[in-house]
Amino acid sequence: MKLDPVFNTKLGKLYKGDCIYVMQRLPAESIDCFFADPPFNLNKTYGEDNKDNLPEEEYLNWCYKWIDEAVRLLKPQGSLFIYNLPKWNTYLSAYLSNKSKLNFRHWVAIKQTFSLPIQGRLYPSHYSLIYFIKGNKPKTFNPPRIPVQVCRHCGGEIPDYGGYKNKINPKGLNLSDIWLDIPPVRHNRYKKRKENALSLKLLDRVLDISTQEEDTVLDPFGGSGTTYIAAELKKRNWIGIEITTCNDITSRFKNLSADIEHFKEIRKEINVLFTDKAMKLRRKNGRSNGKYFTHEHIHEPQLSFEDMLFQSSKLQ
Ligand SMILES: C[S@@+](CC[C@H](N)C(=O)[O-])C[C@H]1O[C@@H](n2cnc3c(N)ncnc32)[C@H](O)[C@@H]1O
Repeated sequence: MKLDPVFNTKLGKLYKGDCIYVMQRLPAESIDCFFADPPFNLNKTYGEDNKDNLPEEEYLNWCYKWIDEAVRLLKPQGSLFIYNLPKWNTYLSAYLSNKSKLNFRHWVAIKQTFSLPIQGRLYPSHYSLIYFIKGNKPKTFNPPRIPVQVCRHCGGEIPDYGGYKNKINPKGLNLSDIWLDIPPVRHNRYKKRKENALSLKLLDRVLDISTQEEDTVLDPFGGSGTTYIAAELKKRNWIGIEITTCNDITSRFKNLSADIEHFKEIRKEINVLFTDKAMKLRRKNGRSNGKYFTHEHIHEPQLSFEDMLFQSSKLQ
């Protein structure tokens, strides 16, 4: 049966419907990167067709079904990411290793800024992002370097690098599997819907790590379309699916300028040791950078605002 997208751009197609139904109709081994941020089964309201309070076994069986499709769609050496609560990702990781025969790469802990304490438990402070690949070696593995964390008052570096400062790469720190720098989407300008949209910075990073321009990314749980915006701005092909209204996604694409601006800010903080803001603070507080290699002018080539506007004007 032919699938009809409800919206498309030069690079992407968005389908409205159930992700398992849509994925079953896509060709095998056609996706380079699969990213999923499914409902967490926390009884949130996403729309009428969408139950988010299933018995545990039912929720997991549902996850296993879309995982089976994702694995079928993944090209050899392709990457798969699932963002979920640690509780669910323990089961999903086991399934991906034992049943799907994918290879485990990382469990990334992403700092959760606002959470409520749960009685009788440790205070939950991270979301988990699991990262698997099909085959032994990823086709692309290109983690960005990130800036040193600094005190927001004086610009001093928070970790003490002691005598190792000379050894630090001027392009920034190696990305680890604990991400403390992914902000929650709270700012009205960036928040596209009431439900939990992910940060554009998170998707920019995931796509940096695992894809190249012209690769194809699939996210079966569209929400506000953060993955599709990141893919579009990074020149990746994308396939999106959303079971409830797609209006949040389409209106976001029709008014891209806030996302473009945000994306430019995010890209400025990649592959540098100190952000521009940190540099200013350091100067103001008389902190020299003499112990580090020079870094100030090492920025990756940036897309100009005009380039991006040109890209967005090409959207269909
Ligand atoms: C946690 S949200 C995703 C948010 C998204 N990552 C963002 O940044 O905006 C999960 C989304 O999956 C959608 N969804 C739930 N079940 C689905 C299904 N079976 N097929 C397609 N979409 C589904 C929900 O309506 C919701 O919008």
